[in-house]
Amino acid sequence: MKIAIFGLGYVGLTGAGCLVKEGHSIVGIEPHEDKIKMILSGHSPIYEPGLDDLLAQGLAEKRLTVTTQVGNLLAECDVALVCVGTPSASDGSHNMTYIAEVSRQIAMAVNRDRIRPLTVIYRSTVRPGTIDDLIAPIFKTHLGADFRKVVELVYNPEFLRESVAIQDYFNPPKIVVGTHDGLPSERMTELYANISAPMFVTGYREAEFTKFVDNTWHAVKVAFANEIGRVCVQLDISAKKVHEIFVSDRKLNISPYYMRPGGAFGGSCLPKDVRALVHISEEVGAFNHLVDSLLRSNEAHKRFLFDYVTRDLPAKARILMLGLAFKAESDDLRESPQLNLAHRLITSGYQLSIFDPAVKPTQLLGQNMGYAFSHLPSISDLMVDRDAAEGNEYDLVIDTNGTLSGLTVNAAKVVHTHTLP
Ligand SMILES: NC(=O)c1ccc[n+]([C@@H]2O[C@H](COP(=O)([O-])OP(=O)(O)OC[C@H]3O[C@@H](n4cnc5c(N)ncnc54)[C@H](O)[C@@H]3O)[C@@H](O)[C@H]2O)c1
Repeated sequence: MKIAIFGLGYVGLTGAGCLVKEGHSIVGIEPHEDKIKMILSGHSPIYEPGLDDLLAQGLAEKRLTVTTQVGNLLAECDVALVCVGTPSASDGSHNMTYIAEVSRQIAMAVNRDRIRPLTVIYRSTVRPGTIDDLIAPIFKTHLGADFRKVVELVYNPEFLRESVAIQDYFNPPKIVVGTHDGLPSERMTELYANISAPMFVTGYREAEFTKFVDNTWHAVKVAFANEIGRVCVQLDISAKKVHEIFVSDRKLNISPYYMRPGGAFGGSCLPKDVRALVHISEEVGAFNHLVDSLLRSNEAHKRFLFDYVTRDLPAKARILMLGLAFKAESDDLRESPQLNLAHRLITSGYQLSIFDPAVKPTQLLGQNMGYAFSHLPSISDLMVDRDAAEGNEYDLVIDTNGTLSGLTVNAAKVVHTHTLP
């Protein structure tokens, strides 16, 4: 393919070298004349192991040209890759100036009589909604309402890491492709034909958000590891050993477990032990802001779930909540988020019934009983059996733990809180 790359920084130039290696012809467009001069003299303006050789190959085989002006170069191109910077603006958002400007340049340079649309692939990291709310309107302004006949807009986040960027380009952890209709793009399939990685084709917004989620998660991991490390050092515990044991657990720790957006955490262990670690961290002066924030984040989520299940609900609606314990197949009510939700629903005037086959108020004992009755004194009146759960009519059924899968309920609306849609 003939590919135009806008922005020859870390992402664009590495992409240029790797695409040359794959046999494509590249034209790089970069406003910085100094960068262009360096590339033409056979040197990469950025240090990336192996990149000089790939660029030299492209120049020698005349499959790499670089320029400051797009001119009419797009006429011969199948694809345009946008790799311009999106640095932080003063308010913390991404500065979208370069994205907007490069989109305008492409819209003005693309030939309106193209037989096949130019596939414009955005690789820069942008906030969700950028293609729909910023980029598409720019193309529409210059090319008219049927601009999709001339350009195919695709969002395709970049996952490479500097210093191992070439290796990462050919072995990405995944390929994410966002398209207008969420369906595969022929050109993208062709572009990635030789790369073996799971491919996810989705809408623009999901694809745009992916990179944010990944980078934030990586930051959470680093901050968490360092907070634990600080406590270890202060308590004369080997941080290295604790880390080794922690990462060896691929079942619960380094795994998708505890990672699904849905219910708040609760039960007899997580809140209690997080609270105790907050206490220890304070005691040893570790200043663990991330761990400190967990309980507040969990409370915010409980509030969110209440708003989420009750939106558009008539006053005094009849609600059946499935699951009261902190998880299915357990009668442990201590710090169960469901108890908290039930309490909020009652105090807001809804008519609540609860079905949880594992919970029998008459059989609760000790701390479990104390917690349940002090936080939900009407628990015995609220609990219903399977016959009532299936036999009565409800305005809303809230499935908090998957109990619904074994039931037939009569409800105007069903909301699942254990898995957000
Ligand atoms: N660096 C990374 O490791 C990495 C990894 C994944 C994603 N990203 C994302 O990719 C994007 C690019 O990152 P980078 O590190 O390569 O940035 P960079 O600053 O190194 O390169 C961006 C280049 O775009 C050029 N440019 C600006 N306006 C232009 C225009 N109108 N036409 C052509 N070129 C133009 C700039 O002169 C610059 O050389 C960012 O959104 C970044 O968040 C970066």
